[in-house]
Amino acid sequence: MESEHEPYRPRPIDLDRPSIARVYDYLLGGDANWAVDRELAERLLAKFPLLRSIARANRQFLYRAVRRLVELGVRQFVDIGSGIPTMGSTHQVAEESAPGRARVVYVDNDPVAVAHSQVLLERTGDDARHAVVTADLRAPAVLWDEVLGTGIIDPDQPVALLLIAVLHVRQPDPSGADLGPAAVARYRDLLPPDSYLAISQVTDEGVPTDLEHSLGTLKQLYDDSGNPVIWRARAEIARLFGDFALLEPGLTWTPLWHPEYAAPGQPELAFPEPNHSLILAGIGHKPA
Ligand SMILES: C[S@@+](CC[C@H](N)C(=O)[O-])C[C@H]1O[C@@H](n2cnc3c(N)ncnc32)[C@H](O)[C@@H]1O
Repeated sequence: MESEHEPYRPRPIDLDRPSIARVYDYLLGGDANWAVDRELAERLLAKFPLLRSIARANRQFLYRAVRRLVELGVRQFVDIGSGIPTMGSTHQVAEESAPGRARVVYVDNDPVAVAHSQVLLERTGDDARHAVVTADLRAPAVLWDEVLGTGIIDPDQPVALLLIAVLHVRQPDPSGADLGPAAVARYRDLLPPDSYLAISQVTDEGVPTDLEHSLGTLKQLYDDSGNPVIWRARAEIARLFGDFALLEPGLTWTPLWHPEYAAPGQPELAFPEPNHSLILAGIGHKPA
């Protein structure tokens, strides 16, 4: 973890290999993707036709989480692994709920995600309240300095840290070990009291038996593409919240997390059962 002193270098744009941000963008119907990304996405979809709905359900959890957090009084958001903005983004959802008041910093290490977020903020943001930074979640101290360096986040006020669909992307240290949980523990310490931590992550536990095999294939396809992933058991995901108290309804399948916070008219995603959504989601609260 303390390779933090030698920050992970920003990744160059690589159009010869798929990127997880651009593949996800394609799944969500965006256009910030290249042939190499679409080819992997189509191979994934061939094995896992529900993948588009799974990605959308995850994105909709993000929107509902932001609405709920604004309702709880949160006005500062740090969205790590924010991705390529498609279908609406954190600052837009927060703006609808708390016009002119919410502050949002986006963080990603994918240059295409960062560039598209910058363009979106130029069009729809307020540079006194919104920013995007390039940083790597594996170096929490460096990342947090970058976030605070924007001047947008007040470190003495509660912050909602969003880690949405990013921790199932393998976060290797130089030896290849996954740094995800250790990094999250550091973020829990860095957050001011009364802050919140929202996490969503693919699990391979409790999923329908007919999907278990496909999940293995999915992992293989991602791993072979140079974008290794990790599916975690429910207890491992729960541990990511440390001593933060989980808000109701706890850690649950994305469609079950406060469906009443959906935007009016938002199309419902049809899963045969909620566990077909494959992603567990929750929000923890740091003691005040
Ligand atoms: C599947 S996308 C999720 C995007 C968005 N959070 C959502 O749920 O809709 C994962 C994002 O995490 C980013 N990411 C992966 N590893 C990262 C790291 N070490 N540091 C920063 N961002 C990372 C990827 O570039 C990608 O944009």
